[in-house]
This record gives sequence, structure tokens and C-alpha cells, in this order.
Amino acid sequence: MSRRPLIAGNWKMNGLLSDGTALAQAVAQGGKDAPCDILICPPVTLLGAVKSVLSGSAIQLGAQDCHWQEKGAHTGDISPQMLVDVGCSHVILGHSERRADHGETDSQVAQKASAAHQAGLIAVICVGETEAQRDAGDTMSVISAQLDGSVPQSATSENTVIAYEPVWAIGTGRTPTAQEANQVHAHIRAHLHGRLGDAGTAALRILYGGSMKPGNAADLLAQPDIDGGLIGGAALKAEDFLSIVAAAKA
Ligand code: 13P
Repeated sequence: MSRRPLIAGNWKMNGLLSDGTALAQAVAQGGKDAPCDILICPPVTLLGAVKSVLSGSAIQLGAQDCHWQEKGAHTGDISPQMLVDVGCSHVILGHSERRADHGETDSQVAQKASAAHQAGLIAVICVGETEAQRDAGDTMSVISAQLDGSVPQSATSENTVIAYEPVWAIGTGRTPTAQEANQVHAHIRAHLHGRLGDAGTAALRILYGGSMKPGNAADLLAQPDIDGGLIGGAALKAEDFLSIVAAAKA
């Protein structure tokens, strides 16, 4: 089955109004007729402005986190309904930086993903092993445990995307080989089979993230179980991001 690739830019904590809207404009312009779906996930301060820039384009808008409740006394948090209200279709959840910086647990990620689904958002759920876990030979068991804990019962191939992001590859310029990454993707797909069934696992999009760049994207994206990328640093330069977009073919 062919899955349409998804190339997603995670801008993390980068971008002010002027450069953020200029970047979105350049991506919208250059991403016309792309061979894949495109998603950009700016910081929450830019969601409204970027949404305006993207109006009329096929590029989708995502946030980088959400709370699990609809509203209430949670200072500083943003609900899934607020993200829908500002025009988001997706939300990244359980990124390793949130797990590390904010102590997010698998069960919190699952709660957030379930709330995102209820609000009508597609949850991009991130998993990935640390370097120590990889060196100890624990990659597959770590990923299995993260999937068991972080992917809620409500997950389907339509409302969920999995992002495999080895923690040691994020922002380091290092990556697993394309074959090694593909092995983990195949493991993720097989592990979720019990949950999603034949059709669901065949349709599930699994993105690779961690130092994906113009120079390595084609190799990674050519792997059978790699259905796109979650791009950090290279998403901050329109030229680099669009070069990765061009490398993604169904
Ligand atoms: P880099 O592409 O900067 O390694 O970041 C990957 C990432 O964390 C995307 O979510």
C-alpha cells in the first residue's frame, strides 16, 4: 500500500512574527505541487499569523504540545480546542524535549493524544531511545514500552502519526543509517498491529526525525517503512525544508 509521505517542520522555540511569517510564506510558495503532504508547527505565538499566511495553500498547521483538558485553571497551557480554534489540524505530542524539559510521562502523552483526538486533531506522537539505551541494545524494547504507554486507545491511522526520533540524533548531525532507522519503523508498525489491524497498520504514517537534512533525506525517505520526516533545524531554512519536501515521493 502506498502511503502519501508527510514532511513536517517542527520549529521548536524559534521564530518571531517577521521571520516566522516570511518562512511560512516561502514554504507556502515553494511547496505548491509538492509530492507529499506538508505540515508546519511553529511556536504557539505564531499560529494565528502563520495560519493567515497559509490560507489558500494545502500546507497544514500544527502545534508542538497541548493540555489534556478543554479549559480551566492551567496557567500557561493551551487546550486542543484552542488549537483547533486557531486553525491547527495536528499537534506534536511527547517530543523528547518535552519529556526531558517538562518531565512528561508516557501516560500524560497518552492523555494529551486522547484529548487531541476528541477535539479532532491528528496527534503526532514521538518516541525514541537515548544513546545509552541504544548502546545497551534496548532500542526495540524502549520503543515498544513508549508505544504501549503513549498511544491511546482512541488512536487510528487517520488520527495518529508516529514519529521515530532517536534522542541522540536530534540536533547532533548524527543519524542511524537509513536501514537501521527503517528497522525501527518496521518494528513500530508491527508492534501496533494488534491495535490497528491490517488496514490500520498498512495506512499508518511513521515519520523519521533527528538530523534529517537535504543531504540524507532521499536515502531515509526511500526506505519502505519511512513515510516522511519530522524536521527540526532544517525546517528553519525554507530552501533546506523544500529540498527535503522534494525528496519525498509516494
Ligand atoms: P533536528 O532536525 O534539528 O535534529 O530536530 C529533529 C526534531 O527534534 C524534530 O522534532
